[in-house]
Amino acid sequence: MNENIETTEVEKEEKEVIIPEFYRDLVPDNKHERLWHFSHRHDPANPRKPVRTPDGLPHKEPFDWKEFFPNGNDHIELEVGSGKGAFMAEYGKMHPEINILGSEWDYTWAAFAMRKILKETNGNVVMLCGDIFYFLRDRVQDNTIDAFHMYFPDPWPKERHHKNRLLRPDFLVEVARTLKPGKRYFYWGTDHKEYNDSALETFDAFPGCKIIERNSAEPTEGIMTGFEVKYRKEGRPIYRSIIEFKK
Ligand SMILES: C[S@@+](CC[C@H](N)C(=O)[O-])C[C@H]1O[C@@H](n2cnc3c(N)ncnc32)[C@H](O)[C@@H]1O
Repeated sequence: MNENIETTEVEKEEKEVIIPEFYRDLVPDNKHERLWHFSHRHDPANPRKPVRTPDGLPHKEPFDWKEFFPNGNDHIELEVGSGKGAFMAEYGKMHPEINILGSEWDYTWAAFAMRKILKETNGNVVMLCGDIFYFLRDRVQDNTIDAFHMYFPDPWPKERHHKNRLLRPDFLVEVARTLKPGKRYFYWGTDHKEYNDSALETFDAFPGCKIIERNSAEPTEGIMTGFEVKYRKEGRPIYRSIIEFKK
């Protein structure tokens, strides 16, 4: 009898644990055209405190790509972790018919990238300053993205930091959900062998994923990213792959 009461109490406590989820808002940058912030909403009474959702559920608010790209073109590609924006600037210049969203959570780099992009492209490249995982999860609607690019992501080499890596199954759930049906490609590159091995394992294990070029892909359309140029000069091996997501 007592045992049952204790179990019920424990179960009740477990059910009441609320994992914090925060409100995030999409706000245009006040200095750079086509740069948007996706950042925590703060409590006006305590501007250092991000506001939690009351129920611990994600704050989902579907958004329309036309907000970023009013040019009426619905071919959308997304770059994860754009750094100084070398890839997007070049790719966007080569393909004015493609709309590209870059992402970078470091404002200094995002602003640097945007200045370069504004000089070199014509309205088809937009930059999001914020955590791209939450933007995908909470804002991007199903079947709206044509391709993903992810080049030289932070490798978080120490084992205790691997949990910070972005190429995780829950990230791939969002990639698979948001890619349009049809030819759905994810372009991947890194210099970090161990992260590469674990990323390719994650792709291999993910339902509907097929690595169509395993470590043998060339830089996408011949464009090297900022980090790639540096690492190639240092003679580091580079691992590039192309992954198809089937629906
Ligand atoms: C090592 S740099 C590579 C930059 C660029 N892709 C290149 O190859 O030159 C990785 C970038 O991803 C950004 N980043 C990491 N996690 C991110 C996230 N969750 N959302 C947005 N940016 C992120 C980092 O700030 C960093 O600038």
